[in-house]
Order: sequence, then structure tokens, then C-alpha cells
Amino acid sequence: MTPIIAPSILAADFANLQRDIEMINGSEADWFHVDVMDGVFVPNISFGFPVVEAIRRHAQKPLDVHLMIVQPERYVDEFARKGATHITVHYEACTHLHRVLTQIREAGCQAGVALNMQTPVNVLADLVDAFDQVLIMTINPGFGGQQLLPLSIPKVSKLRQLLRGAGSSALIGVDGGMGLANTPTLLDAGADYVVAGTSVFGADDPQDAIRQLKNRHQP
Ligand code: DX5
Ligand code: ZN
Repeated sequence: MTPIIAPSILAADFANLQRDIEMINGSEADWFHVDVMDGVFVPNISFGFPVVEAIRRHAQKPLDVHLMIVQPERYVDEFARKGATHITVHYEACTHLHRVLTQIREAGCQAGVALNMQTPVNVLADLVDAFDQVLIMTINPGFGGQQLLPLSIPKVSKLRQLLRGAGSSALIGVDGGMGLANTPTLLDAGADYVVAGTSVFGADDPQDAIRQLKNRHQP
């Protein structure tokens, strides 16, 4: 199956955001991945509503918003109004995860749940009907440009088994340190979508990097 490629705007040039958005519009990428960080859930602050709204004005593909924030239920509806089409919250940030996922769907978005490195995939076993996608963090979130942590790889296979066993068609994503060298391994483990920041925006030819990720080319 051809993977879904979601370039992460975190690695774009914010002084030339429209240019970088147009680059993605004209590429084989499928989604825009938009990382929102609050400086509490993760040790970094990225951007909020005005930037998401600005991205939406130019983006011609779905907006996959990854909320690395505490109490995401306070902001889900506003991110949906600003143009998010997919909203992913962290398992570790939600006391009532089922309620938040329901809220995301009621806001008209695809509901996603992200798992940090230490969180086993089986915490999702009783919730499979409540989400549309699961994001396996392949780094400790907060910053772009980190190296993939290999401990994350077997989690993707385990989650694939869990979802298959439950008859779920939810998508599995991987986020952090993804590039040409490791994407085929993660796709073989069962990933459906790949988030890539540095390996796309740091490439000499970002559109070609996207094309190669999409077509599983190895360097
Ligand atoms: C990190 C973010 C990622 C990040 C990925 O906390 O969730 O989406 O932008 O960046 P790279 O691909 O550079 O690791
Ligand atoms: Zn992300």
C-alpha cells in the first residue's frame, strides 16, 4: 500500500511559510502535519491558532493537527474551527481519553491518539472504535531533528496486530526522526502514515524527498 506522507510544518521556514505550503501543495504529500506545543506537556513552544488559521488559508490538503498540550479538550473545538481536519491528542495528556476522542469527532474531525515512548499500545485495546488514527511517537516529542528511537519499532507491529484482531481500520502513523533510511522498516512493521519534518524541509529538493518517501526509495 502506498503510504500517506505528512510533512511537518515545524521544520518549515516560518518567514517563508506560504512558499513552503505551496511546495507541499505541489508535491505528492497527502497531509500537512501541524505540531502544537504548549511548553508544559513538552519542553518547547511552537505556535497556536493564528498560525494554524494562516496555514489553512493556503493549504490545499488536510490539516493533521498534533496537539502536544495538556488538557487538549479545552482547545479541540477551536482548532477544528480554525481548519483542522484531523486532531491527535496524547494518551498521556487525557484523563478521559474516550470523551476527548468523541469531542474531536463531534467537531467534525478524524480523531487521533498519540502514544509516547513508554506507553504500551495495549492501553488502546478497549477503545478501538473511538479513534481513526494512532500516532506512535518514534522520539520523545518536543523537538524536530531528533534520531528515531528503535524501541518504538516493535510497538508499530504490536499495534498493527491489535487493530487487525479488533477489526479496526484505524491508521497507524509514525512521528519523529523519519527519513528515507528508516521509512521502509516502519512501513513493513505496519505504519500507514509517515510524519517527516527535517528529512523533507532539510533536503536539497523537498518535493523529491517527499516523492522518495512515498515510493519507499532507499538512499
Ligand atoms: C516532534 C513532532 C514531530 C516533528 C518531527 O515533537 O511531533 O512532528 O516535527 O520532526 P522530525 O521529522 O524532524 O523528527
Ligand atoms: Zn508531530
